[in-house]
Amino acid sequence: MPNNPTKILLMLTMMSGILISISSNSWIGAWMGLEINLMSFIPLMSNNKNIYTTESSLKYFIIQAMASSFLLFIIMMKVLMEDMFTMENESINTMIIMTPLLLKSGAAPFHWWFPSVMEGMSWMNCLLLMTMQKMAPMVLISYMMKMNTFSSTIILTSTIVGAVGGLNQLSIRKILTYSSINHTGWMLAALMINENMWIMYFTIYSMLTMTIVMIIKPFNTSFINQTLLMNKEMITMKFMMFTTLLSMGGLPPFMGFLPKWIIIQMMIINNMNTIMTTMVIMSLMTLYFYLRISYSSFLMLHIEPKWNISYYKNNNLMKYTSMMFSLSMLSLMICTMMINIY
Ligand SMILES: *[C@@H]1O[C@H](CO)[C@@H](O)[C@H](O)[C@H]1NC(C)=O
Repeated sequence: MPNNPTKILLMLTMMSGILISISSNSWIGAWMGLEINLMSFIPLMSNNKNIYTTESSLKYFIIQAMASSFLLFIIMMKVLMEDMFTMENESINTMIIMTPLLLKSGAAPFHWWFPSVMEGMSWMNCLLLMTMQKMAPMVLISYMMKMNTFSSTIILTSTIVGAVGGLNQLSIRKILTYSSINHTGWMLAALMINENMWIMYFTIYSMLTMTIVMIIKPFNTSFINQTLLMNKEMITMKFMMFTTLLSMGGLPPFMGFLPKWIIIQMMIINNMNTIMTTMVIMSLMTLYFYLRISYSSFLMLHIEPKWNISYYKNNNLMKYTSMMFSLSMLSLMICTMMINIY
């Protein structure tokens, strides 16, 4: 949470933009909320100590303004042809309305801006971009999500781009970006089943992302090889970072497996077998490279210098982070136990 009054104000207007957008009952209101949200996120991104933020915010502004004007144009067309207050309908234009929203949330064929914008931002803004900024567009998408060729194409390309794009990446921001694109695809699949599935997936995904960002932020590590050279205190951090990464990859003993499990089961019940198989194969591919990174860092590349700097002594952040971390370690077991007790 920022401690600067301007930033607090901007955070509040950003959140109210999201709330306006998801609670409005006409498309104009939804558009207005998205615009308030965008206009308060842009100044939040800027930081005069880091020149790359300017580039990122400019790119983000251009892309999002393009998506907004596209959305506004389609809404005007819809008002002229149909009426103003229906948000869900059966016609072809659901596909056209979904396109700018997918662009805003960074789903696959429209993801090209996402990695380069993320690369120039501070960790807190990365966190906001990966979680909060996806909320409003995805709720709006949920009004139109149906099982058709368009949605399946988006879901499949998102998971494929997320899996293939993450290969051989060493920048943690890039890895998190591709994992975010991938999870957007899975969240759209969850949205196809129903909204509650999406809420569950989104909550768990946001918590895991928040844990990773909280662990990385105090150390300012941007690349995987920086985490390999750590002294004694930071071994905890290394362990927590890689296990949370594996949790995001959906490896069974961790919490990240729970939403994946539920989505797989629900999609098979609903006869979406082909698309489900492709998604599972792609997630295997990602697990391979996540495991490759964490295996070498856990077992082989462990260097321990004689001197010791303690970063985490008496730190509240450490308590908070380890709480989130243990949540990600234990809650799958707790959830399955609760289901078995009932
Ligand atoms: C994509 O999401 C699935 C389901 O949570 C996961 O198994 C897979 O490892 C993820 N891939 C990436 C790149 O994060």
